[in-house]
Amino acid sequence: MKILSIETSCDETALTILECNGDDTAATFSVLSNALLSQIEVHKKYGGVFPALAKREHAKNLMPLLESVLEEAGLLHESTQYIDESIKKETIALLERELELSSAFFELISQIEVPDIDAIAVTHGPGLEPALWVGVNFARALSAVWNKPLIGVNHMEGHLLAGLVTYGEDKKTLHIENSEFPLLALLISGGHTELINSPALLQYERIGQTLDDAVGEAFDKVARMLALPYPGGPQISKLAELARTEGLTSDIKLPRPMLHDDTCNFSFSGLKTSVLYLLKKKENVTDEEKKQISHEFENAVTEVLYAKTVKALEQTGAKRLVLGGGVSANIHIRRVFEEKIGTDFPHVSLSIPSPELTSDNAIMIGISAFYRAKRGLYADRSTLKAEGNLAL
Ligand code: KG4
Ligand code: ZN
Repeated sequence: MKILSIETSCDETALTILECNGDDTAATFSVLSNALLSQIEVHKKYGGVFPALAKREHAKNLMPLLESVLEEAGLLHESTQYIDESIKKETIALLERELELSSAFFELISQIEVPDIDAIAVTHGPGLEPALWVGVNFARALSAVWNKPLIGVNHMEGHLLAGLVTYGEDKKTLHIENSEFPLLALLISGGHTELINSPALLQYERIGQTLDDAVGEAFDKVARMLALPYPGGPQISKLAELARTEGLTSDIKLPRPMLHDDTCNFSFSGLKTSVLYLLKKKENVTDEEKKQISHEFENAVTEVLYAKTVKALEQTGAKRLVLGGGVSANIHIRRVFEEKIGTDFPHVSLSIPSPELTSDNAIMIGISAFYRAKRGLYADRSTLKAEGNLAL
């Protein structure tokens, strides 16, 4: 089946069309087209994602990206040829106005010939609600006008499933083999830090979560304190790696919050505050100190993430560990998990998404949608709503 997927939960507008085949045990996803517009440059000057701006950017991007994925997949009808500029302009205006699913909007979409797809999927949470609404309403309208079933996807389920993917040689075909349940997922992103026990495909039990800041948020906030640009995770990672390769040592010691408590929960706000106090004591921070702080901060985060994952592995007896979310792009975290899981839990197989599937994308949304469609888990297009706090 062909699924058009839409992701607008944060600062990336992403659309993809996947041809999906297979079943729960083994599935193949051919990427017919994939498009992503990052808003990093727009939000950079604010040091973080600004929801009203994100919403406007999504509204601006959706129609051009739809045209591009339909065209790339060879699904744009000759009679449509290209989507008229006036349609694009009017769509932006309508999407920006919270998009009541008005007849005017339906009329616009009906000018695009119905493409040969089987379903439309959209992220409906968790995330920034104004941003989510744009994608949700766009998907609802497409689903209504084209008379295609609609699938609402949980963004975190997408991050989890991205970790199960292996790429074919052409990088255009993705495979998922599901043999090892229960599996444990460590989901680490800008908004979430969770340990999820998954006894079977699409079944979840949250066994740990952050009590305050998400790990990506802590990376971003510490980066801001060090006057590094947004998003801070990759910046901290770069400096920490430099400290390692240069063999830079220091006596900076940051706390490892909740390392020894009995739960699988996390807390990162104290760690962030410790960096703040450390910086308050200094008149100015040298480049060398930035590297040292980044190094120690990243070590502290990684140690806590690993220790809590160990606890969760022992608790669940999972045979497979999956990492997911933007922070799982972090080289040091990947390296530590690969080395340590291999020695501490030789019977556990570790899956980490390939770097391009760690951050937000629409491919992971399409994958989740496929398993949902297989189960007939379709959304009601008249009631599907954006849910900023949607849980797994
Ligand atoms: O999953 P994601 O793309 O968006 C959300 O769903 O939140 O995650 C974004 C987060 C940001 O906080 C970003 O700083 C962090 O992932 N991140 C990293 C790295 N790359 C992205 N954190 C640490 N190291 C990285 N290499
Ligand atoms: Zn995400």
